[in-house]
Amino acid sequence: MSKIKIGVVGIRRGGAYVKAFHRSDRSEITAICDLSEHNLAASAEEIGLPDEACFQDYDKFLETDIDAVVVGTPIPFHEEQVIKALRAGKHVFSEVTMAHTVEGCQNILNAVRETGMKYMLGENYIYLDFIQQWKKYVDDGRIGRIHYAEAEYVHDIRERLYDTGTRPGETYWRTYRPPIHYCTHSLGPLMFLIGNNDRICKATAWGNKATIVEDQSLYPSTIDMQAALFETEQGRIIKILRSQVTPREKHIITYNLYGTDGLLETGRTAGYNTVGNRFFGATDKRIVPMNCNGTNLDTPKRLRFGGHGTSDYYGAMAFLDYLEYDKEPFATVEIAAQLTLPGLIAHECASQGHIWKDVPKLD
Ligand SMILES: NC(=O)c1ccc[n+]([C@@H]2O[C@H](COP(=O)([O-])OP(=O)(O)OC[C@H]3O[C@@H](n4cnc5c(N)ncnc54)[C@H](O)[C@@H]3O)[C@@H](O)[C@H]2O)c1
Repeated sequence: MSKIKIGVVGIRRGGAYVKAFHRSDRSEITAICDLSEHNLAASAEEIGLPDEACFQDYDKFLETDIDAVVVGTPIPFHEEQVIKALRAGKHVFSEVTMAHTVEGCQNILNAVRETGMKYMLGENYIYLDFIQQWKKYVDDGRIGRIHYAEAEYVHDIRERLYDTGTRPGETYWRTYRPPIHYCTHSLGPLMFLIGNNDRICKATAWGNKATIVEDQSLYPSTIDMQAALFETEQGRIIKILRSQVTPREKHIITYNLYGTDGLLETGRTAGYNTVGNRFFGATDKRIVPMNCNGTNLDTPKRLRFGGHGTSDYYGAMAFLDYLEYDKEPFATVEIAAQLTLPGLIAHECASQGHIWKDVPKLD
């Protein structure tokens, strides 16, 4: 069987997917695109891609013979680049989040439906190994029905709120991203564990003050902390805490889920190698440490890359399964919207004085 031909646009974060699809024996990278010549050259050299497969012009890149596009550019470009790729007859694997506006999410959904092409949101944290292991516990009923879930993602990236690339020191796309907009690493795993027959339908949030960073031109990315509360259609409560400026060494992402018969929770020590995962279930009747982290230790070393355990590799493989075997991943276009919209609405709630708002259901 011939390999699936993948093109990647946005080579910084997208570089992880250059590796994933290049190293898999089911796919090959046939074109890459980036505004930065330097980033293009470095990536091309790494995988031995000729100059004629490197593009600074996205439209020309789309004219090449590729089956699917990985959109790894900054979020404000997702809507336009995803829709162009779909209309050019390419399947899309998009970096998070889906888009930075409600309208952008709707436009992507419409384009997927119009073109019949496949779309997957590359929410890699769902593929952290411990989340995959937890899923088995949940599906086996070991914590009962989940009624409450929370996540905390605090990552001090103050230095990255400025452009470090073409216009060093100037404001950049992350400057315009309120912390709670970047919510899919939190909501993705939680909703994956809860299951896709529920949806966040209401939101409220607190947090609109920026007291840590003095440079007010960097607002709203510099909001100290945002805390959002969500309600699901089936009455579950979800709490998310987000900051990208509060001092913390090192960054942390934690998840806790409470069920009618037990709980699953991460430790609080460090990022993705979350040491101290614990489980409490009705049959076990005690807190049990779980020996799991972000990396699947059965995975060959050459497929462990990207700084997020083995999640980048397994996310990419889920996309190939979608294309090759029509095996639907969790984060289809509908779920992508359901993971992205709560953050967009939550920021509106926080800016307007922590009011409650409905989270729209796109159709
Ligand atoms: N899933 C994860 O764990 C994770 C981690 C980091 C970033 N991300 C996501 O990846 C995306 C990119 O983030 P980043 O940290 O690499 O951003 P970045 O700004 O550091 O790098 C963006 C890259 O895209 C290129 N680029 C910018 N605009 C472009 C355009 N219009 N056309 C072609 N190339 C363009 C830049 O030259 C640069 O190489 C964002 O959507 C972000 O949310 C996801």
